[in-house]
Amino acid sequence: MESNDLPSGIIKRNFFLHIHANRVHVHSMKPTYTFGLGIILGFLFLIMIFTGVILMIYYTPSVDMAYQSVKDIVNVVPGGRIIRNMHRWASQGMVIVVFLHLLRVFYTGSYLGKRSLNWVIGVVLLIITLLSNFSGYLLPWDQLAYWAVTIGSNIAASARELTDLLGITNAFDPGGFLKKLLIGGESVGQAALSRFFTLHVIFLPLSMLILLGIHFWRIRKDGGLSRPLKYANDKGSTNKWYAWPVLMWTELGLFVLVVLVVLFVALLADAPLLEQANPSFAENPAKSPWYFLGIQELVSYSAFAGGLLIPVLYLVFLFSIPYRDREDGYVGEWFSGKRGLKVVWRSAVFAFLLVVMQLFVIIRFGWLRDWIPGISQWFVMLINPATITGGIFILLAEVIRRKSKSTRLGALALFTSTFVALLIFTALGIWFRGPNWEFFWSLKQWPVI
Ligand code: HEM
Repeated sequence: MESNDLPSGIIKRNFFLHIHANRVHVHSMKPTYTFGLGIILGFLFLIMIFTGVILMIYYTPSVDMAYQSVKDIVNVVPGGRIIRNMHRWASQGMVIVVFLHLLRVFYTGSYLGKRSLNWVIGVVLLIITLLSNFSGYLLPWDQLAYWAVTIGSNIAASARELTDLLGITNAFDPGGFLKKLLIGGESVGQAALSRFFTLHVIFLPLSMLILLGIHFWRIRKDGGLSRPLKYANDKGSTNKWYAWPVLMWTELGLFVLVVLVVLFVALLADAPLLEQANPSFAENPAKSPWYFLGIQELVSYSAFAGGLLIPVLYLVFLFSIPYRDREDGYVGEWFSGKRGLKVVWRSAVFAFLLVVMQLFVIIRFGWLRDWIPGISQWFVMLINPATITGGIFILLAEVIRRKSKSTRLGALALFTSTFVALLIFTALGIWFRGPNWEFFWSLKQWPVI
C-alpha cells in the first residue's frame, strides 16, 4: 500500500497516531537531520520516571536514614541495584543528549521563524534537566553527594564576592538569599535534603512533563520539524508520509534500543556510593557534579564572574538567540551552508587556542594575585580567564556580524566559541583538577593527603 493511502480507520484506532503527527515530511525522516535525539531524550525521561517511582518506594529522605535506605536498595531490594544504576545512567545520558539536541537544533537553524517560542521552552527544559540531576545528586547522602552539593550551594552564593567588595553584604545579600533558598540554611543538612527531595520527585518532573507537553504540541503547531526553504510551500500531503507503520516501528525500535543500552550499562557499572556523608570531613578535592565543573573552574578564578556573571550572560544569550537572529532563510540547513560551516570551525579552533593558552599561563605562571600580592580584589574579579574569554568571544561575534552583515553568522560564532570553551573548562575540571584545585596530568600524581 502507498504510504499516502492510509485508511482513516487506522488513524482513529491507532493510539500512536493520536499523540504523534500522522503525516511527517520526508526531510524530517532523514536520520542525519535529527539523529533521533529529541525522541531519545523523551525515552530517557520515561526511564527516569519509571525507575524513579520504584526507587521512591524504598528511599527515605531523612539525614539519619537516607544513606542506609540507598544501601538497602542496592543490597537487599531484589533488582534494586539495577534499577538504581539505570536511574543514574539514564540521568547522565539525559544531560549528554540534551546538549547534543541543543547543538542539532541550533546548527540546523531550527529556532528561526515561528519556532522561537519552542527554542525558549527548550532552554527552560535544559535548565530543568540540569537541576533535576543536581537535586538527585544529594539524595544518597554519601560523601560524594554531600560535598558536591556543598560546592554547588557555594556557587549559588557567588554574588557575595561583589557585595563583600561593596561592603553591603550585611544589608543586601542576594547570594546568601539564593543559597538559603536552595539549601535552607548556611550548610547542607536536613532542610537541604527535604528541599532537594521535593524538587527532585515533584516540582521538577512535573514542570518537565508540562513543558514537554507544550514542546511537542508546539512542534505540531509549527508545522512539524523545520525544513529548508525549498520545502517551505509543501502543504497538505505533498512530500509527506504517514507515520504509520514505518516511523512508528522505527521509533518503537529506538525505544527498545535505548532501554537495552541503559540496561547494559547498568549491568556493567554501578552508580557510585561512597561512605556516609560526614560534614566534618571535607573531600579534597570537593567537586560539583561533572556538568557544573566548567563553572567550578571559572569560580576558582572569581566567584562572582564565574559563578554568576558568566552563567547569567550565557543563559541570556541562549534565550535571546531567536530574537537577535531572525534570518529565517537559513532555517533547516545544517550550519547554514558552506559560509556558516567555515565560521563554525574557525571559531572552534580560535576558542580552543585562546582558552588553552590562557590555561597554560594560569597553571604555569599563576594570575594577578601571584604577580602582585596586594592587588585589589576588584581587578581579580574583573580581569580573569572567565571575563577575558567571554569578552573576546562577544567582540569576535560582533565583528563577524558586522563584516558579514549576518546575524546568523554572528550567532554561529558566539555559540560555537562559548560551547568549545565550556567543553574545555569542564574537561579540565573532570580530569585535570586534584586536591586544592591544583592541576595534575593524571590521578596517579595526586599527593596522598
Ligand atoms: C528534556 C529535554 C527535551 C526533550 C525531551 C525534547 C524533545 C524534542 C523532540 C522529541 C523533538 C522532535 C524531534 C527532534 O528534533 O529530535 C524536539 C524538537 C525541538 N526541540 Fe527539543 N527537547 C528537549 C530539549 C530541548 C532544548 C534544550 C532545546 C533548545 C534550546 C530544544 C528545542 C527544540 C526545538 C526548537 C525543536 C524543533 C526542531 C525543529 O523544528 O527542527 N529542545 N525536541
